[in-house]
Amino acid sequence: MPTAPPFKDDILKSQVWGHDFTNPVGLAAGFDKNGDVPEAMLDQGFGFVEVGSVTPRPQPGNPKPRLFRLESDQAVVNRMGFNNDGADAVAARLTKRRKMSTGLMGINLGKNKETEQALDDYVIGINKLAHLADYIVVNVSSPNTPGLRALQGRKPLAHLLGGVKAALENLVLDPVPPLLLKVAPDLTEEDKADIASVVMDVEIDGIIATNTTIERPASLTHPSKLEAGGLSGQPLMGPSTRVLADFNKLTEGRVVLVGVGGISSGEDAYQKIRAGASLVQLYSALVYHGPGLVNRINRDLAHCLHRDGFASLSDAIGADVR
Ligand SMILES: Cc1cc2nc3c(=O)[nH]c(=O)nc-3n(C[C@H](O)[C@H](O)[C@H](O)COP(=O)(O)O)c2cc1C
Repeated sequence: MPTAPPFKDDILKSQVWGHDFTNPVGLAAGFDKNGDVPEAMLDQGFGFVEVGSVTPRPQPGNPKPRLFRLESDQAVVNRMGFNNDGADAVAARLTKRRKMSTGLMGINLGKNKETEQALDDYVIGINKLAHLADYIVVNVSSPNTPGLRALQGRKPLAHLLGGVKAALENLVLDPVPPLLLKVAPDLTEEDKADIASVVMDVEIDGIIATNTTIERPASLTHPSKLEAGGLSGQPLMGPSTRVLADFNKLTEGRVVLVGVGGISSGEDAYQKIRAGASLVQLYSALVYHGPGLVNRINRDLAHCLHRDGFASLSDAIGADVR
């Protein structure tokens, strides 16, 4: 795919988890589930990409149709169900990857549909993939794997994250990739407080807020709004940013936050950053706006930061809450 060179502006640079990011706009999980195109996506101007979700064993996911465009709502409903090639195939592919760019790559871990002890699957994911990743994500928030989101409860989450962290430390990697948790937008106040306290107790390095929602906002007009699955895209922007801001408050700015959900412009990305995000991600807007979008978002984000007198991206993080 021929592309324009990535947009660059020093104001977009930052250091997170000791890594240098050329810009804070990342590709969200689900687009490159199998690690086929990380370099091609970095070439589109993304500052980082997230491969996955990857499960230990390959699985086909749900029957088609399982992806619905709600064009009139600038939204997507999906019930893919973690279709992916499995950890061995993805590891083999990423081992052969020739790193061409300075961009970073995270790997997002899921569990197989039939697995009962979820921790076992995430530990397999860590053992097979962590050495290939600049960061690791424990995804417990997809709505299309039965029982997955229940892992966000206080007790199961403490068990899961404690076990995953121990497995990661056992590998003795240098550097140890930071460990992130990806959460759903559909959480009660109690859920959010529990998650924040477990994340801080276990010393998890970041929270990705949020995955798709099972809610259907009243504003939706497209008939496919009735399809089962997770909703993403523009209608998720407000709800997911509120959840992000809640986690910023609950973690007192001590945990790195990645804002995702409904970003389709530089202003949207800027809003997430002002609500507490150090990094942002997007997927659905690519469906409607194509690859030129990433450079446009970075250009407009840089404009917002200059316009409002920030010297750097880092100075704007959480500006709305301070
Ligand atoms: C088709 C599709 C597949 C997705 N698959 C995954 C996945 O495997 N793992 C995951 O953590 N999130 C997955 N997501 C969620 C996205 O990473 C993101 O959190 C969500 O779509 C909100 O961002 P957006 O509004 O920019 O799309 C998927 C989203 C879509 C639309």
